[in-house]
Amino acid sequence: MSELSKIRLENELAKLGISRQLYVFKKVDSTNRWLVDNLTADSSAMVCVANEQTAGSGRSGRDWYSPPVGNIYFSYSVTLAPDVQDFSPLSLVIGLVVLRVLTMIGVTDVALKWPNDILRNNKKLAGILIEVKTIGRERIMVIGIGINVFMPANSEGSQWADIADTGLGVDDRERIIALILAESESVLPVFFEYGFERFKSEWNTADAWAGELVQILDHGNAVVSGIESGVDESGRLMVLSDTRLLKIHTGDLSLRKNHD
Ligand code: BTN
Repeated sequence: MSELSKIRLENELAKLGISRQLYVFKKVDSTNRWLVDNLTADSSAMVCVANEQTAGSGRSGRDWYSPPVGNIYFSYSVTLAPDVQDFSPLSLVIGLVVLRVLTMIGVTDVALKWPNDILRNNKKLAGILIEVKTIGRERIMVIGIGINVFMPANSEGSQWADIADTGLGVDDRERIIALILAESESVLPVFFEYGFERFKSEWNTADAWAGELVQILDHGNAVVSGIESGVDESGRLMVLSDTRLLKIHTGDLSLRKNHD
């Protein structure tokens, strides 16, 4: 499989009418880290892509396994509209963006796990890590996306899925990145103007674990268990615990199937 090419990516972006400052690396510690460190207020529309990450980071301080060449690792910046107060549902919206693009290119059986994991047959296909950097009065989001496209056979763990499993071609990674950036550009203005409410029903339709008995973990400790009942208009996860409907805010919590 060939390395991601800056020229091919530029061509794909041009086809979709997108202009961004592109930085494509053979190897970087983390595209999120690179972008957070290199952003400036007047260069906020940046994209950092890598063929390999040596210290890829995931949510809740976890690592993101990032072997060379086969997968997608990229981060891009978005300046937050000044009047957006609660941007936490943004991570759910970006999950939908990735899901839409994967579905568009023919990846079947994809679903979302709150807040923003993309699963295929209950295994993780893609993950999203969003960080915020404040420069002067600007709040800039760094949106990092990792998609397993072609995992080497001996890869760590067994809880992941990749696009290669679907039988689809895996040589079009530049197109996938460009489609995600384009979808993001068309969806984010809607989120900034109307909030998460516009996306709630689409998110709930794609919810992988609706109706399942789940545990909410905080730093690995179970704090609540109950029936996963979808998200509300603010993107909070609703969990029916005994007779109470709890609403869990997007944060440092994760969801696990309850095996009791
Ligand atoms: C998760 O834990 O599910 C989030 C994983 C996010 C991984 C991506 S890969 C590109 C970007 N750079 C990083 O270091 N992390 C994100």
